[in-house]
Amino acid sequence: MGDERELLMIPGPTMVSPRVLRVMAKPVVSHVSGEFVEAFREALELTRRLFLSEGRVFILSGSGTLGMEAAIANVVEPGDRVLCVENGFFGEKFKDLVRAHGGEVDRLTFEWGEPVDVGLVRERLEEKPYKALTVEHVDTSTGIANPIDKVGEAARDFDALYIVDTVCGIGAMPVKVDEWGIDVCLTGSQKAIGAPPGLTLLTFSDDAWRVVEGRETPVTDYYADLRRWLPVMENPQRYFATPSVPLLLALREALRIVMEEGLEERWRRHEVIAEAVRRGVQSLGLTLFPREGYRANSLTVPEAPEGVAEQEVRRLMREKYRVIVAGGLGRLAGRTFRIGHMGTVTANDVVATLAALEMSLMELGYPVEAGTAVGEAEKQLTRL
Ligand SMILES: Cc1ncc(COP(=O)(O)O)c(C=O)c1O
Repeated sequence: MGDERELLMIPGPTMVSPRVLRVMAKPVVSHVSGEFVEAFREALELTRRLFLSEGRVFILSGSGTLGMEAAIANVVEPGDRVLCVENGFFGEKFKDLVRAHGGEVDRLTFEWGEPVDVGLVRERLEEKPYKALTVEHVDTSTGIANPIDKVGEAARDFDALYIVDTVCGIGAMPVKVDEWGIDVCLTGSQKAIGAPPGLTLLTFSDDAWRVVEGRETPVTDYYADLRRWLPVMENPQRYFATPSVPLLLALREALRIVMEEGLEERWRRHEVIAEAVRRGVQSLGLTLFPREGYRANSLTVPEAPEGVAEQEVRRLMREKYRVIVAGGLGRLAGRTFRIGHMGTVTANDVVATLAALEMSLMELGYPVEAGTAVGEAEKQLTRL
């Protein structure tokens, strides 16, 4: 079919509002024009409001991985010890980044699908001093949402800087950077914020910035050296490297939409939609991978039913019903699939996705009563 219409329900990038797309279709303006400088300023202010932080904020051209790297590269000096708390594919990246920048890694690992145990984090922090501690908010490989507020309480009792990756959380679920004592928090533009991929957003607390300024060795990354970027973030008329003009304008528009909805209302919408997807999927007899009570509201990770190839389910959903969901990641490949429901996601999207899932399963011989999942979801979606 030559039609371009399809429904993107992967855990990022997500569907982008036409309002945001229209901004990107405009002619490129100068990065030092009044129009752009004003947009950059507004995007920084809206970023501060998104993270609920009075700290320094940075917007860099590059994906979420650049944000992770900037966090580590600026905080970690050769020989510094970092506690990497991991329970999924993305959490495991931090250890590589710390090593790449000369740090010493201690890993505290939890089973994939299990949440981070705050008591064990505290025990490890008591054992020896750490320069920093890293944790994922939502690990997109498993669909787990870690209790980052509680980990923050533990981190506060120690000197370790608290670094949180909320690439798949912020905009969908509460993240309160200052209240929860998060020293460095980072995300990407392409998930629950509802902008296209290509920008990373970071915050640095006063404590974190003091550490950056007090470094004895240079940051081992020229582009991600945030001391070079701070003057730009304080006054976007200054230049260090050319920002992505269309993406920045798109981000500002997406953040305006976030604030027009309101953070609380947005979190509630994601909560209702997530519950609709979870109940819908479970009504088909599928099991959800992450532990109950710790499931993210930004994506759902069902296990493929016995005897049904998840690749086939996704292929049918994509080719016949034009709904795109993602496969399992890392060691969960082939065993789970991932349905993203964040950002601009609507009740319609949920109904269409669950219907496509039902029909695909039916066609593959899995016993499904037509309308089961959609019916379950509707009971939740009317709460919107
Ligand atoms: C939780 C999490 N962290 C980091 C990343 C890396 O972001 P990017 O792919 O934008 O570099 C992702 C990407 O999906 C993610 O889900």
